[in-house]
Amino acid sequence: MIDKLKEIKKQIIEFEIKTTEDLNKFKSYFLVKKGVINDFWLLIKKDATVDKSVFGKKINEIKNLASEKYQKNIFLLETKSSKKEIDLSLSSHMSSLGGRHPLSKINNKIISIFNKIGFSIVNDREIEDDWHNFTALNLEENHPARDMQDTFFVTKDKNILLRTHTSSVQVRHMTKNKPPIKIISPGRVFRNETVSYRSNCFFHQIEGLYIDENVSFSDLKKTIDYFIKSFFGEKTKTRFRPSFFPFTEPSAEVDVYWGLESESDYKITKGTGWLEIMGCGMVDPNVLENCNIDSKKYSGFAFGMGIERIAMLKYQINDLRLFFDNDLRFLKQFN
Ligand code: DAH
Repeated sequence: MIDKLKEIKKQIIEFEIKTTEDLNKFKSYFLVKKGVINDFWLLIKKDATVDKSVFGKKINEIKNLASEKYQKNIFLLETKSSKKEIDLSLSSHMSSLGGRHPLSKINNKIISIFNKIGFSIVNDREIEDDWHNFTALNLEENHPARDMQDTFFVTKDKNILLRTHTSSVQVRHMTKNKPPIKIISPGRVFRNETVSYRSNCFFHQIEGLYIDENVSFSDLKKTIDYFIKSFFGEKTKTRFRPSFFPFTEPSAEVDVYWGLESESDYKITKGTGWLEIMGCGMVDPNVLENCNIDSKKYSGFAFGMGIERIAMLKYQINDLRLFFDNDLRFLKQFN
């Protein structure tokens, strides 16, 4: 029996435990009720010749040896598998930082160019009333130019609406502040237009306004020229074309020379080489009076441009909808 016990001891020591499967085999061979060690108790019970206390001690020693090995290996296997989870040799997960949307980039760039020459930013509401969006800007009821700005109305009486342009911020600011006024107002505007590659039901504009004594059209020209050269480059050619806006007199549209080098240049400039980028003019005295500013003492200029249009030019993007799809493949190109 002693030899048998020695043999079991040897087996316990030599048993290799590498996996949980091995561990389970070890347990069911040595440690369960019907395992090889417990068999010895039956043997010594039956055999009257053996000294029960001596052999009982030996059996317990072996049992302890087996269960110690078992416990130790549970621990070893556990630490091995948890080590796998924090394998420091693996490359780490890079959490990607977000980037600025191309429209924000353009917006910020335009703002910083005007900040440098003393324009401060003024924001105001997107839900406007008729007076601030239209009437105060010389667009009285039934004015044909109202139709050009297909409006989303909020109330049935058509008094509350989603602003169709940021020019409403001029009105808000002029009624609350005295000249000199030198502001730019970036913001979202809304028009009930069919969504296509060139128009959307909402887009972004930046409005500029400068009111003081003796502000003239040449101040306007200089300011716009400075902006275009800062934004598109020193060599950019610009031209002012007479135009009409109800809230400015005289009014102009500003074109930049885009060139006619490629087929797409022909397409986007309609064969002229010139691209319109903003509307502007001298604030109509009527508008100043509507906002309680003395038009005999003060004069000023205003301008307004679409951010999407400028971004499309700058980045050569031919579909406006891309700005609003939030497709990462598109957005990642700008970071
Ligand atoms: N509000 C005009 C529009 O949405 C843009 C504009 C043109 C703004 C001329 C101005 C301006 O301030 O002087 O089309």
